[in-house]
Amino acid sequence: MLLQAICIVFCGLLSVQALDNGLALTPPMGWLSWLRYGCTIDCDAKPKECISEHLIRRIADLLVSEGYVAAGYEYIIIDDCWLEKQRSAKGLMVPDRKRFPNGMKALADYVHSKGLKFGMYQDIGTKTCEGYPGLQGHELYDADTFGAWEIDYLKVDGCYANVNGMSQAYPRFGRMLNATGRPILYGCSWPFFQETNNVHSNYTAVAENCNIWRNYYDIRNNWNSVLTTMLWIGDNQKRLAPFAGPGHWNDPDMLVIGNSGLTVDQAEVQMAIWSILAAPLMMSVELEDMQPAFKRILLNRDVIAVNQDKLGKQGLRVWRSGEAGERSQLEIWHRKLSGGARALAFVNRHNHPTEVTFTHSEMKLPQKDYNIQDLFKPENQQSLKQNANLTLHIKATGVMFYKFILIQ
Ligand SMILES: *[C@@H]1O[C@H](CO)[C@@H](O)[C@H](O)[C@H]1NC(C)=O
Ligand SMILES: *[C@@H]1O[C@H](CO)[C@@H](O)[C@H](O)[C@H]1NC(C)=O
Ligand SMILES: *[C@@H]1O[C@H](CO)[C@@H](O)[C@H](O)[C@H]1NC(C)=O
Repeated sequence: MLLQAICIVFCGLLSVQALDNGLALTPPMGWLSWLRYGCTIDCDAKPKECISEHLIRRIADLLVSEGYVAAGYEYIIIDDCWLEKQRSAKGLMVPDRKRFPNGMKALADYVHSKGLKFGMYQDIGTKTCEGYPGLQGHELYDADTFGAWEIDYLKVDGCYANVNGMSQAYPRFGRMLNATGRPILYGCSWPFFQETNNVHSNYTAVAENCNIWRNYYDIRNNWNSVLTTMLWIGDNQKRLAPFAGPGHWNDPDMLVIGNSGLTVDQAEVQMAIWSILAAPLMMSVELEDMQPAFKRILLNRDVIAVNQDKLGKQGLRVWRSGEAGERSQLEIWHRKLSGGARALAFVNRHNHPTEVTFTHSEMKLPQKDYNIQDLFKPENQQSLKQNANLTLHIKATGVMFYKFILIQ
């Protein structure tokens, strides 16, 4: 009786109820069209870049041939702008006839034949964000259509929808996806539309109904956007992090890495922090002519292993200086990993390199001895004694990303 009473008080706090479709047991990894290709629909002017079956097939081939699938990037997802502007006479969704002449089932078959999973995009409102026909009023048929096309992932945006109705509309559509019998990873934008309307989302409900969910604005192709996103996540982490776990994850949006907006050092920062955050790793970049330095970051197995860690605990920003001067632009992010290890990212937001010394307590590390593995430069091994401090040299707008392994 006493145990039961204790459980009523505490067990609810300890376990987050999750959407039970067996998917996203680790954060999903893949490629999504939006950041790089947006709503490019003029295939005459931009034959290689327009949202089309040609693009998806070409990228699917590259995901395999360039080693991304082997590293874990398994989803390829078409974002907005794949639809005709009008539904069919029967009210069904029609993929753009010129850009997807063979239809979505054939494209799904092609993607599956490559060993990849296929994702698509819709919107819970009357229109998608780019003005194509949305789900509202057509949910049941559309869920069946996605099931018949054999998709594996659906990103559902929230433009042209009533924000107050989202906490009903998203779960309802999720039940329709479930009823198709096909496991479809469900990506929701419901918290984002609430948070940016000054409503704190009910993440208990979100995690019960969605595999991943966007919390914050679309990420853009620049460093400031990455920083702004990190700042918001850090400032709101107490509300967000407890709801991440196997099957359900916060989604700070795509990896900008490999595009024009980030330097190599800034790209390392995003890869490190997204791994600390147990965030979906969704590239959105031209894979054909990627600079090797960016490709190495995206394919870094040690960093991906942090992101995919089985414990499934979202890391936290554990230290941020309140001081002026050299330490003011520094942050420490910390994620607990399975087996007692920890991943720590030391971010320097200054536009110049910096040298800095941290204590165990600032790093939120128990006062013990550790072996330290540099995740971007595995040849750099060092150790930290329990009574010593750690001195780091961090590049301008860069990161040192370490795995700390306790010496028993
Ligand atoms: C549907 O939901 C039930 C109950 O949560 C779950 O057991 C089942 O695996 C789900 N099926 C699909 C296809 O998502
Ligand atoms: C949040 O959602 C959960 C699960 O659906 C529900 O039990 C709870 O009452 C909601 N909390 C609030 C404050 O609405
Ligand atoms: C570590 O840093 C703290 C804070 O700056 C300092 O008090 C302490 O003496 C340092 N310890 C060592 C071994 O340098």
